[in-house]
Amino acid sequence: MNYQPILDEIDALIRPSFGQCGGAVASYIPALARVSPAQFGIALRTCDGVEASAGDAATLFSVQSVSKVFTLTLAMRRLGDRLWERIGREPSGNPFNSLVQLENEQGKPRNPFINAGAIAVADRLVSEGYANADLLALMSQLCGEPVGFDDEVAVSEAVTGFRNIALANFMKSFGKIDNDVNAVLDLYFHQCAIRMNCLQLARAASYLCRDGAHPFDGNPEVASATQVHRINALMLTCGTYDAAGDVAFSIGLPCKSGVGGGVIAVVPDRLTLCVWSPALDPTGNSLLGMKALELFAARTGLSIF
Ligand code: DON
Repeated sequence: MNYQPILDEIDALIRPSFGQCGGAVASYIPALARVSPAQFGIALRTCDGVEASAGDAATLFSVQSVSKVFTLTLAMRRLGDRLWERIGREPSGNPFNSLVQLENEQGKPRNPFINAGAIAVADRLVSEGYANADLLALMSQLCGEPVGFDDEVAVSEAVTGFRNIALANFMKSFGKIDNDVNAVLDLYFHQCAIRMNCLQLARAASYLCRDGAHPFDGNPEVASATQVHRINALMLTCGTYDAAGDVAFSIGLPCKSGVGGGVIAVVPDRLTLCVWSPALDPTGNSLLGMKALELFAARTGLSIF
């Protein structure tokens, strides 16, 4: 399939919607509130390395919760099934930053893609000796280009991260966080503040459509085939929070979104895709990014179903 004309068409269809269909950039992190909503990028990489992109695909943005896929991959690779002693695998049916389930479920987060779950993953990674620089090394190695933090976003996350601080302390009170809460949150805030563009993320995620093989030459293996199947399953059921059912219905692909407006999507054995547009819908997913994925699924007929 020739994907470039499809991405060009989607870009042309999306742009007139800037400012027309609601949505708002994330405002609870001041550094994100300043991003212009009138931006849209889309990029893909096929399993055999063909790339296509359109719009603002080269513009850097804050990856935010898209990073949760990559930290989960690291933790699964390092800990195997031991990871699931601390984190569940069920959709939460609650907003991504909710505290309510944690009380009833003794500090064990429902899944690794809500904030509590990602903070629990960060705790596991701190125990395994991972530091902020290791996250950059991983992302750079996966996308083949140097990747950095947006320091302003990292600071902004930390000074306004009252809910995340509460989540971490709450889990600690149940004995579910082993390390110093500040050290765990520092890793979590930095993973959110990684800056990448659509093309880099489509490349970095491409082990997810290649049964774990490294995006470029297959080596070293990023994760096992079974681990990748499970990550894709979690992306489908939990990757877009409270909208996961609707996303499975209307897009039919495993996705992971972030409040920076980025979304990665996987077509197993075919390609990975990244869309970005900063204005979010009420569930915290990119409004136009989701629209673009819906158009892509409709134009190509690609679906895991
Ligand atoms: O924890 C937070 O609030 C953000 N740094 C990341 C949240 C996020 O991207 C959730 N996604 N939709």
